[in-house]
Amino acid sequence: MLENKLGITNAIELAKEEEKITKIKAMELFQTKKIDTFEVGTFKGLAQIHKYLFEDIYAFVGKIRTENISKGNFRFASAMYLEEALEKIDNMPQSNFDEIIEKYIEMNIAHPFREGNGRSTRIWLDRILKKEIHQVVDWSKVDKEDYLLAMERSPIKNTEIKLLLKSALTDKVEDREVYMKGIDASYHYEGYSVYKTEDLVSE
Ligand SMILES: Nc1ncnc2c1ncn2[C@@H]1O[C@H](COP(=O)(O)OP(=O)(O)O)[C@@H](O)[C@H]1O
Ligand SMILES: [Mg+2]
Repeated sequence: MLENKLGITNAIELAKEEEKITKIKAMELFQTKKIDTFEVGTFKGLAQIHKYLFEDIYAFVGKIRTENISKGNFRFASAMYLEEALEKIDNMPQSNFDEIIEKYIEMNIAHPFREGNGRSTRIWLDRILKKEIHQVVDWSKVDKEDYLLAMERSPIKNTEIKLLLKSALTDKVEDREVYMKGIDASYHYEGYSVYKTEDLVSE
């Protein structure tokens, strides 16, 4: 369990509090349009999202990790070369759907933060899609197991994640409902499904 600003020592309790607090922050980001002031398609933009979501929970928000991490059999980018990798990703093109997903895959391989990469990088991805192709992913249409398998495969073969996300694209880029359900889906992928975002915020 990670050290946290809430002083919580029980993992289940931390997960619940983290879910509640950061889902409210994710909604604020959308409703106040603060998200529109962040950079699009760069590590800086991702760090801005990460910091905004998790600043009440962790001390390392927005900061590049210094330890090596892995999930399943996959080892994410070595901490030693992370800065270099992030610079390369910043410079990757993002002019069409394929290029944008390839950039997303590379950012996942980089996995710059100690925790919270999945949830913040999906918001980051939608910002690029919105700006460049005027669509976003309706994450409520993307099945958890399909998504996680496709991401696990993505460093070797990107066709599955491209197909999966392409079939879930929507033109409703400013839709509160799409965003809110998307947040719930995104959290569900990571095992957070105690609260519905809708019940945490007012209209
Ligand atoms: N085996 C894997 N190989 C590559 N990427 C993976 C693998 N397992 C999970 N991922 C990616 O990592 C994300 C989770 O990263 P993490 O930092 O824990 O984010 P969060 O804290 O938001 O859950 C998943 O959403 C998925 O995109
Ligand atoms: Mg996680």
